[in-house]
Amino acid sequence: MTYQIKNICCIGAGYVGGPTMAVIANYCPNIQVNVVDIDPVRIKNWNSKDLSRLPVYEKGLKEIIRKCRDINLHFSIDINKHISKADMIFISVNTPIKIKGFGAGQASDLKWVESSARQISKFAKGKTIVVEKSTLPVKTASLIKQILEIDNTNEENKVFHVLSNPEFLAEGTAINDLQNPDRVLIGGSDKEAIKALVNIYTNWVPSTKILTTDLWSSELSKLIANAFLAQRISSINSISALCEMTGADVKDVSSAIGMDKRIGQFFLNPGPGFGGSCFKKDILNLVYICNHYGLKEVAQYWEKVIEINHWQQKRISKIFVEKLFGTITEKRIAIFGFAFKANTNDTRESPSISICKDLLEEGARISIYDPKVTRKQIGINLNMLESRSLSNESNGSWTFSKSTHEAAENADAILVLTEWEEFKDLDFKNISKIMRKPSWIFDTRSIINVEEAKLYGINVWNLGKGN
Ligand code: UDX
Ligand code: ADP
Repeated sequence: MTYQIKNICCIGAGYVGGPTMAVIANYCPNIQVNVVDIDPVRIKNWNSKDLSRLPVYEKGLKEIIRKCRDINLHFSIDINKHISKADMIFISVNTPIKIKGFGAGQASDLKWVESSARQISKFAKGKTIVVEKSTLPVKTASLIKQILEIDNTNEENKVFHVLSNPEFLAEGTAINDLQNPDRVLIGGSDKEAIKALVNIYTNWVPSTKILTTDLWSSELSKLIANAFLAQRISSINSISALCEMTGADVKDVSSAIGMDKRIGQFFLNPGPGFGGSCFKKDILNLVYICNHYGLKEVAQYWEKVIEINHWQQKRISKIFVEKLFGTITEKRIAIFGFAFKANTNDTRESPSISICKDLLEEGARISIYDPKVTRKQIGINLNMLESRSLSNESNGSWTFSKSTHEAAENADAILVLTEWEEFKDLDFKNISKIMRKPSWIFDTRSIINVEEAKLYGINVWNLGKGN
């Protein structure tokens, strides 16, 4: 059966669905791409004339939206209509870790995937290729298949083929990653369905970079790629602590080992621990399936990657308090960076959340500045109302700042948690005048100009650097 793909529907207009569909629409002008979501506010923002309101901030995204929106790229809440028109449907909904019930804290919550599959089963017409794009535990494709076949009994010409096509984009570089992927992975069993998806990608990806496998290998590869990347970060972060003890410099160690081609230079930057929606969730999924198959040692091995990540965040909070004479109660702390990494407005699993919560619990008054994260988002993440004025608060409290200058005013210490470009070039002459003495800056991303900070009398603590 040969497939002619003229109409694509993507369920889920989030960090993955939005940018991915924008890039497909850009390279495939003959395909109509409809991105649908249950969240009307999100869809309204995707349709906003003011492109600064797009729900996802990614370099290069605005330009594609400007070019393709309302031509062959559409954002809508009319999910059923677009499912019924589609030849190919991408499932790109959220799959967070379950917070209650069996597998709570470990397994993914598949309720959004299930409800999407039920809707597809009900409203799809004719031959439809269903592509799982969301990060999912291995064997989810078979669950999707089972659901698709539930409502499908009355209509003889309803046919579904399920493919796995995991997304490897990283936030902050999403558009570039989508346009120039290291590889595109497609898992499935139906040759024609695979060919239809391959044909979409060959509009811009060289065919040598398109890898086809069975469903399970494709699903598992996504989890393992993320587990290996996260493992490198936990490895270098564990060494950052050793460097602080021994007087070595973790940046030098990382450069030295990274020059070995077998190790490679990427993903060796020490920091406050990995965040983002994928790494922790994927490793937890890996741990869960290993335990399920009785592979206890393998599960424990990967669990350590998460343990070190958690430990690194706690370690930073403790050092911070110790350096400020063992107490930060009522001290003013400026937090530079709340997103889990630079160039994104996403805060999911951001180390800033857990570190800020530690400082609040110690009674600190914190002022938070991030170039892209909103005041509202910070409030949701900290689960605490913003204070009107920090000076009146005797318990832990926080306020939102619109600039580094505003955040640093009267602060005893600055804590750099995200590697935003503007933190690389801080005006320490000015900052030193507005901070309380003794002033401190704690750099967990090794990005500030240490010499200049010291020149203006600011004490510096650098992650992974011995005295
Ligand atoms: C990751 C994967 O890179 C991507 O392939 C997958 O599709 C989704 O998960 P993402 O989470 O968006 O992407 O960002 P990534 O660049 O991988 O960073 C994840 C976290 O690791 C961030 O908190 C980042 O600050 C941290 N990190 C990354 C380090 O601490 N050190 C590094 O060297 C690299
Ligand atoms: P990701 O990073 O995986 O893209 P997001 O949370 O950014 O995750 O996006 C997932 C999107 O999927 C959200 O906008 C959410 O509203 C949407 N969504 C979840 N369930 C459904 C559903 N059944 N139908 C349509 N959209 C859905």
